[in-house]
Amino acid sequence: MNQFNSIHDSLRNAQQRIAAAYDPARFAADGKVAVGEIAQYLARSQRCEGRVLNWEMPAANLQAAANMLDDCKDPGALLHAALARGQTIQDPRFIGHQVAAPVPLAALFEAASSIANQGMTVYEMGPWSTAVERVMLDRLGRQLGLAESFGGVLTSGGSLANLTALLTARNAVNPDAWKNGAGGGTDVILSSPESHYSVERAAGILGIGANACMRVGATPDGKIDPQQLRKQIVQLRETGRRVIAVVASACTTRTGVFDPLQDIAAVCAETGVWLHVDAAHGGAAAFSPRYAHYLDGIDQADSVVWDAHKMMFIPALSTYLFYKRKNDQYRTLNQEAPYLFDSNAERVEAYNTGLGTIECTKRAAALSLWGVWAVYGPQFFTDLVEVTFGMARRIATLIREADDLELLHEPEANIILFRYVPAALRHAGARELGAFQQEMRKKLVESGEGYIVPAMDGGTEALRMAVMNPLTREEHFQMLLDTLRRFGKQHL
Ligand SMILES: Cc1ncc(COP(=O)(O)O)c(C=O)c1O
Repeated sequence: MNQFNSIHDSLRNAQQRIAAAYDPARFAADGKVAVGEIAQYLARSQRCEGRVLNWEMPAANLQAAANMLDDCKDPGALLHAALARGQTIQDPRFIGHQVAAPVPLAALFEAASSIANQGMTVYEMGPWSTAVERVMLDRLGRQLGLAESFGGVLTSGGSLANLTALLTARNAVNPDAWKNGAGGGTDVILSSPESHYSVERAAGILGIGANACMRVGATPDGKIDPQQLRKQIVQLRETGRRVIAVVASACTTRTGVFDPLQDIAAVCAETGVWLHVDAAHGGAAAFSPRYAHYLDGIDQADSVVWDAHKMMFIPALSTYLFYKRKNDQYRTLNQEAPYLFDSNAERVEAYNTGLGTIECTKRAAALSLWGVWAVYGPQFFTDLVEVTFGMARRIATLIREADDLELLHEPEANIILFRYVPAALRHAGARELGAFQQEMRKKLVESGEGYIVPAMDGGTEALRMAVMNPLTREEHFQMLLDTLRRFGKQHL
């Protein structure tokens, strides 16, 4: 009896602790603190007050995180640390990786989405988020000019979406592979020499083999050459190889250039090869009357990937995967799971997103785009693309005009490659010049005064920028240059 009482007491105590954590009044109080912290973080970041990258060695960060885990019970302090100790994406001096400074309003939709936590595998696990996803797929698909018959799904990131699309392409060409394995060593994926590494990784995962992801001959600016593509497809077939898909980039990761989609689509149509367009980064160009021409021909692709968490400035991850033919998404991953997919529920089966995604539980990834679009309208996305692409062109002009900077390509998107070449290094060899770029970036990272990333160009180290904060202006680039020049003087 005593034992029963003590179990009962301990359960009641646990229930009380849980109820306190779920208390709406407590949530409202914590929420006020959180919104205050986030608003202050935004204001500080936009004024460039702190460091862009709060660099610490991993051991120090691990220790601090463990200490807070054990000792800190204050949500405000924990949130402050989460905002203050990492990469300050919202600082306009952040011109680094392709990670967007999200539109602040999106964070509120993400918070609502987190608490509602819609599973999304089947329609009834998230009826509203499924509807929102369908509406946003429809809007973005139409923005790309896809034909009426298109379908699609949202996935967790461009890498997963590339894998899913190539799995579909592989299964369309080799339907036995799902059950009997890829085998044979005949299959090939042809991709841009500059395609994202997730394409080669997908080839590995698919059992085709990373080595069977072959590079298509390119023009000097790194774009697929359609003539060489046609020749390669013919030659591969003559030697008994089976081309599963051509992957074109819109745009490429390293330099942000767009493959000539129209001409590539013509070759794929002529040879009967699946065309997959990786528009993870550049899909949003479709919103810009000035830059949409880069995507001409994308409507002819069999599948397209577009990350809303890149150039639509929505928090990660939110990726749209489109299929030209709606039914392709169901051909690929169609598996029996009677506890989820009720074959009697025909009216809603087409809304069971889990039939087309590798994920089972799937977050409601369209909600923040839906909210931002509703509040600010589609013109907002035109503005974001035109400002960031335009700023890259302005920065490229400043680089071209400076004696000590070397512009390595003409930007098409918002990505710029350059080298810092002070007078003392004007005649330096590639090795010395490359090492200098690395040293300058290391100093920049450690100082936190700016953030750009490394890249290779022509076998030599270079510096790379992606304008992923729409508040970045010329003066922020000027600050970066001042810092680089100060480090350069100290170093040489
Ligand atoms: C062209 C391209 N495709 C795919 C990806 C991968 O997308 P994610 O980071 O969403 O997995 C990237 C990421 O930078 C990219 O630039």
